[in-house]
Amino acid sequence: MPGRVLIPQDQIAARVRELGGELTRHYADRRPLFLGVMNGALFFLADLVREVELDVEISCVRLASYVGRQSSGLVRGLDDSDLREAVRGREVLIVDDILDTGRTLSALVGSLHEHKASDIRICVLLEKESAREIPVRAHWVGFRVADEFVVGYGLDEDGRHRQLRDIQIIEKA
Ligand code: IMP
Ligand code: MG
Repeated sequence: MPGRVLIPQDQIAARVRELGGELTRHYADRRPLFLGVMNGALFFLADLVREVELDVEISCVRLASYVGRQSSGLVRGLDDSDLREAVRGREVLIVDDILDTGRTLSALVGSLHEHKASDIRICVLLEKESAREIPVRAHWVGFRVADEFVVGYGLDEDGRHRQLRDIQIIEKA
């Protein structure tokens, strides 16, 4: 079972509220598309959109680069035929659970550029400090964390533990 609580649910909720306020100010009077990266961003996206006072649209993409606790180096699932029409000319805010090597989000940003989004920004709940392999900058970051494997609040290990309310560290096997 998961181990030590890293970020308890009340801290997550408070930080998500702050991010919602910042996004409300940034996108004031505009209509951004909040694009959640499934499945990890499930709860973060749901909570975040309810903390913004904006006329947002919500959509999702499914992407995955992890197998177990290791980044596979491949980004799977970038099937974006539906996305093409949705993002053209739009201000898109990518919402993801965690920025780690940067592969997932750089692949997605590239795809959104191809589909002619007018503006592309990134909001992540967590950013791992040391793990970047591809330079990707998140415009909004909930928490910066050490390079440990975490689960909960949407983050999983092979599909498990997403539903935990707190973010917890899994001890290295
Ligand atoms: P990146 O492509 O290496 O930046 O990986 C980002 C994706 O890997 C995230 O969307 C997560 O799904 C997954 N990931 C990276 N680190 C963790 C972790 O500590 N716990 C759970 N999932 C993680
Ligand atoms: Mg993910």
